[in-house]
Amino acid sequence: MELKGKTILITGGASGIGLEAAKQFLEIGAKVIITGRNQDKLDKAKKLYPELTAIKSDLASPADAELLYSRIKESGGIDILYNNAGVLVPTSNLGKADDKHAESAAYEMEINYLGVIRINNIFMDMLKSRKEAAIINTTSILSMVPSLIEATYSSSKVALAFYTVSLREHMRIIGSSLKIFELVPPLVATEMTAERNDKKITSEEMAKGLIKGLQGDVYTIRVGDAKIFDPIRRFFPKLAFKIINPKKTDQFLK
Ligand SMILES: NC(=O)c1ccc[n+]([C@@H]2O[C@H](COP(=O)([O-])OP(=O)(O)OC[C@H]3O[C@@H](n4cnc5c(N)ncnc54)[C@H](OP(=O)(O)O)[C@@H]3O)[C@@H](O)[C@H]2O)c1
Repeated sequence: MELKGKTILITGGASGIGLEAAKQFLEIGAKVIITGRNQDKLDKAKKLYPELTAIKSDLASPADAELLYSRIKESGGIDILYNNAGVLVPTSNLGKADDKHAESAAYEMEINYLGVIRINNIFMDMLKSRKEAAIINTTSILSMVPSLIEATYSSSKVALAFYTVSLREHMRIIGSSLKIFELVPPLVATEMTAERNDKKITSEEMAKGLIKGLQGDVYTIRVGDAKIFDPIRRFFPKLAFKIINPKKTDQFLK
């Protein structure tokens, strides 16, 4: 799809992959609106890239989502809704009773899954009315195989991945041209993964892969190791499980 001249809303675009994607979209000639919960982070992003529109908005709040919609509608609407905002709470052993399991799972589901469905629904008619429009949902390599130390996060991304496949097919059934992309990142060096010492790609590489996929209309955009990991988990599921969960991670769950 063409990105030049498009208006793109990036949820959680004040840091990490979202901010780097914002930068690269601006370079191509798109207009970019970013959201986030933290005003300081939004101000810093705006200082770095003054062309950005930055709006404080919490994906977990239905009222914020409605306000965001009204503001964006007044200023001319969007062509692309890039659902990037996400949260991860490291999992302790799910086999040991702990109230935090349900609490963190609910938090992750609210933002990584329910918040995305809510905001997609609010923007759906606007996006369907545009000449060429898209929704991008960000899942994860962990929607293919669960990470034991990020178990509830992995589950929230599986829910999003299934929803994304269904949404794409629903568009086909109703004859809509709205494009539904799934972005599948590998491990990327951002705040979210700061504690991890494993192999990571940069946000820059990640955003480049996203843009290449969008421009080529590749509806499931797997970047870096997420690409090779797809055939591995299909044909060698035990190996895939071991790659994501090396023996050394057992110690965190003991
Ligand atoms: N990094 C990786 O290795 C990796 C791998 C696979 C998938 N992903 C996915 O890629 C996406 C981006 O991750 P990242 O690594 O760039 O993480 P990040 O650096 O932690 O950025 C996440 C962004 O989401 C925003 N956010 C969180 N909760 C929000 C909410 N309720 N409402 C609005 N914004 C919210 C955060 O801003 P505020 O806190 O200011 O709201 C932050 O700017 C996420 O969906 C993540 O799950 C990342």
